[in-house]
Amino acid sequence: MARESQAFQREPLVSSEHEVVALVAHELRHPLTAIEAALPLMDAPQPETRQKARRVVERQVMYLRRLVDDLLDAERARRGTLQLETRAIDFRSIVADVVSMFRARVQERGVDVAKEAPTRPVVVRGDPVRLQQVVANVLDNAVKHTPPGGSVRVHLATHAAHAVLTVRDTGDGIPPDVLPHIFEPFRHHGNGGGLGIGLNVARRLVELHRGRIQAHSAGAGQGAEFVIALPMAER
Ligand SMILES: Nc1ncnc2c1ncn2[C@@H]1O[C@H](COP(=O)(O)OP(=O)(O)O)[C@@H](O)[C@H]1O
Ligand SMILES: [Mg+2]
Repeated sequence: MARESQAFQREPLVSSEHEVVALVAHELRHPLTAIEAALPLMDAPQPETRQKARRVVERQVMYLRRLVDDLLDAERARRGTLQLETRAIDFRSIVADVVSMFRARVQERGVDVAKEAPTRPVVVRGDPVRLQQVVANVLDNAVKHTPPGGSVRVHLATHAAHAVLTVRDTGDGIPPDVLPHIFEPFRHHGNGGGLGIGLNVARRLVELHRGRIQAHSAGAGQGAEFVIALPMAER
């Protein structure tokens, strides 16, 4: 009886470990396949073909680098060993940098991105690299889950001594049964690839900044909204 209940308790953990391994293997396979296909083309007689192949390899290696870095961060988040190098920064510049990083991709995808921010600095104490990572994760999701013709609105404001960033999209939305779990590690659902760890790491990083991140969606097909609130630096 005791053994039985132990086995029963253990089972979901084992199956989720299997799921994690399957998910990671699946995500690694795509870039590897693309690199394998590009390698022979790097010796092609036409310079354009060689150049194209080189760009594929560069892009896929970058993607692999991000996957591995994300995995390491997820593990650091789990152990509580993520570290910040904080200083006073204007959160507007972080948001502007990330939005401009995404410009080419959203144009290619046919998604409209609009950004609004206050005219005065929005100073927070934080790690610029980590905050950029948080905003990029949320924006990446919004773009990934918004079909061509849709839009993403990035809105920065201040409210009650907090910098409040809202990223709202008109895309796939999040079903009510999925919504409570999206910040858990290795929760991946719906369109686009991914390991399902971006939001988990983002939430940990926001919490390390004494902030909060919340998700809202009226359901499938209804778009989604992510709100990040960070305490502003004392003046
Ligand atoms: N803007 C969004 N629209 C719809 N679903 C979203 C959005 N952002 C996050 N999600 C859901 O949350 C899950 C977890 O996101 P994330 O942790 O970034 O992992 P990944 O992007 O690798 O799937 C996604 O798989 C998706 O189901
Ligand atoms: Mg993601």
